[in-house]
Amino acid sequence: METAQRVYKGLEGVYVLESSLCLIDTEHGKLYYLGYDVEELAEKSSYEEVSYLLLHGRLPKRPELEEFVGKLRSEMRLTPEEMRDVQYAAKRTGPMDALAAFYLFASKDPPQTKDPMEHAIRAVAKAGSVLGNVVRVQRGEEPMEPQPELGIAGNLVYLVTSKKPEQYQTEFLDDILILHAEHGVPASTFGAVVTASTLSDIYSSIVTGLMTLKGPLHGGAAEAAYYQFVEIGDPNRVESWLERALAEKRRVMGFGHRVYKIYDPRARYVKAMAARAAELAGGRVKTLYEIAVRLEQAAIERLSARGLYPNVDFWTPIVYTAIGIPPGYFTAVFAVSRVVGWVAHVVEYWKDNRLIRPLHLYTGPESGQRYVPIEERG
Ligand code: CMC
Repeated sequence: METAQRVYKGLEGVYVLESSLCLIDTEHGKLYYLGYDVEELAEKSSYEEVSYLLLHGRLPKRPELEEFVGKLRSEMRLTPEEMRDVQYAAKRTGPMDALAAFYLFASKDPPQTKDPMEHAIRAVAKAGSVLGNVVRVQRGEEPMEPQPELGIAGNLVYLVTSKKPEQYQTEFLDDILILHAEHGVPASTFGAVVTASTLSDIYSSIVTGLMTLKGPLHGGAAEAAYYQFVEIGDPNRVESWLERALAEKRRVMGFGHRVYKIYDPRARYVKAMAARAAELAGGRVKTLYEIAVRLEQAAIERLSARGLYPNVDFWTPIVYTAIGIPPGYFTAVFAVSRVVGWVAHVVEYWKDNRLIRPLHLYTGPESGQRYVPIEERG
């Protein structure tokens, strides 16, 4: 007998699980991982250390971090078979699908360890090495051996640009990876946990997360924001573009959020990075930044009364461009970062697993319909 008679469309306002991983303080526009302000983490920590924090629930002591980084580094390398898998997938699919294909191959033949934490660490470590080589193969370049000593961010920059990264490139990407690592239960994380709740494996949960993040309502806004800036083309065209866009009922990409109705704290942090990126890189990056600054001001004037402010995806395209990441890969970089959020949720959920199996409110025909043979149907 179904007791709950109300359907919560989009699960809006529904608590689906308990988690200690992050707190989104929508009133004050703050985000905390395990109680630590994410802006402070981006400033002072590393993606590796934040991964430890999310997976273990506390910051590591120095020897613990060294051991953890050592494990990550050994898993960042790709075996010849993994390299073949990456090339196979990259030649046949888009970036997100190629990442998913890699984890699918991993789920078919996971290593002989039963400890989910080992799989989680492996999954986190591989993501950047896989994506970097997906970018290369899809651009028609030869794959390259990952350089684990550059760290997860530096290695990804190295694979994408074929050059030893400048310090600012590594720092920018490391900060962006930290800021995107965890965000409660958006659709992709919920999807990953639903998969895990059936006691499927961790790699399959990541595949669910990736395929859910891929949708334009979830992970694709940074790329859309980039093309929006390109379409505007010149800071002096911002106001006329915005008038027309709003009259045509278009959305300002990188504006608005289901949870934040004030300035997204991640956006605040990345905006400052974008300013530095514009100074450092100049040229096209500076133009994109100038367009974004002017669009932000004009759009806030028009939209803030409805709780619409820039979200993190408004500013990341400028920083990605300064780092050298092509727009078609922005969502996949977000995914690389979020792998740790997905697996941390899975590991946490498995501590007290319960199969996720909600109810549907039946709206079909009355029971007892007579089955009419096909030749008698009018
Ligand atoms: N530009 C102009 N109008 C907007 C925008 C926007 N970016 N976002 C929402 N609105 C309007 C919308 O048209 C609607 O107006 P009306 O009531 O007249 O129909 C009203 O605001 C409410 O919109 P909604 O879609 O019901 O609100 P939501 O909370 O479901 O939307 C959102 C959240 C992120 C889907 C939406 O703001 C949007 O489409 N933004 C643009 C895409 C974007 O930047 N997405 C990135 C999300 S953040 C990334 C992350 O955290 O992972």
